[in-house]
Amino acid sequence: MGRLTGKTALITGGASGLGAAIAEVFAAEGAEVIIADLDATQGAAMAASLGGAARFVPLDVSQPASWQAALGGIEQLDVLVNNAGITTLGSIEEVTPEQFRHEFDVDVMGVFLGTQAAIPLMKAHGGSIINMSSLSGVRASANLVAYNAAKAAVTLMTKSCALHFAERGYAIRCNSIHPGAIHTPIIDKVLAQSDDPDALYQSFVDVHPVKRLGRPQEIAAIALYLASDDSAFATGAEFRIDGGASI
Ligand SMILES: NC(=O)c1ccc[n+]([C@@H]2O[C@H](COP(=O)([O-])OP(=O)(O)OC[C@H]3O[C@@H](n4cnc5c(N)ncnc54)[C@H](O)[C@@H]3O)[C@@H](O)[C@H]2O)c1
Repeated sequence: MGRLTGKTALITGGASGLGAAIAEVFAAEGAEVIIADLDATQGAAMAASLGGAARFVPLDVSQPASWQAALGGIEQLDVLVNNAGITTLGSIEEVTPEQFRHEFDVDVMGVFLGTQAAIPLMKAHGGSIINMSSLSGVRASANLVAYNAAKAAVTLMTKSCALHFAERGYAIRCNSIHPGAIHTPIIDKVLAQSDDPDALYQSFVDVHPVKRLGRPQEIAAIALYLASDDSAFATGAEFRIDGGASI
């Protein structure tokens, strides 16, 4: 018996990076995994690599109709990982309104829509909603104005939902994970937006007292805890997995 045997888990952004690492661990622990992503090629390949334990559904987290289609055939959901996200690099003087809006569409509206869509599938039997916020949701950087604002919104949205579920007596828990910099493709996408990628990379290292970036498996481990019944008393909490960066 795995720690997630008998549970169905949907992971947004499961085609790449942290979502893919979470999908691997969940499948290894016995969950039925649904990888939901904008990238159909990589998402389908990721699901295939996990064998019969996983399948892929196309999803744009920012679109209500896309959520309806993705969840259409699912009768019961035990775990939702709202992980899909993007990172817009830039300060308040650099980011355009269009970039700011897009950041919020994916990173904030995506979590809002996913949570709303999951409630009817979890209400009767309970479930765990895991929101991927960030160190950037609790600590600001001058060059991450849109990302800081979006991830901070996820931090408090998580707590509001946790309170609502508890007050209504739903057995649904909602927690947020706050990774420091973890070397995944999102980091490469941010570096590609910079004039000086080497200096930016070094600044990512230096923000962590332990002087290294994190590994995707170190985030998947906390997601596994939150998905499993081991975390039954945890709700509305911030799990900061950041090499000490938020101290
Ligand atoms: N890597 C880090 O250092 C780090 C640190 C803190 C938080 N995070 C957060 O972790 C999450 C995952 O990041 P990652 O590093 O794995 O990035 P990644 O770029 O490797 O993966 C993100 C995935 O999300 C998908 N995606 C993007 N927009 C989407 C949309 N509209 N609908 C559905 N899927 C979409 C992408 O196709 C991709 O598969 C993000 O929310 C990110 O903000 C990452």
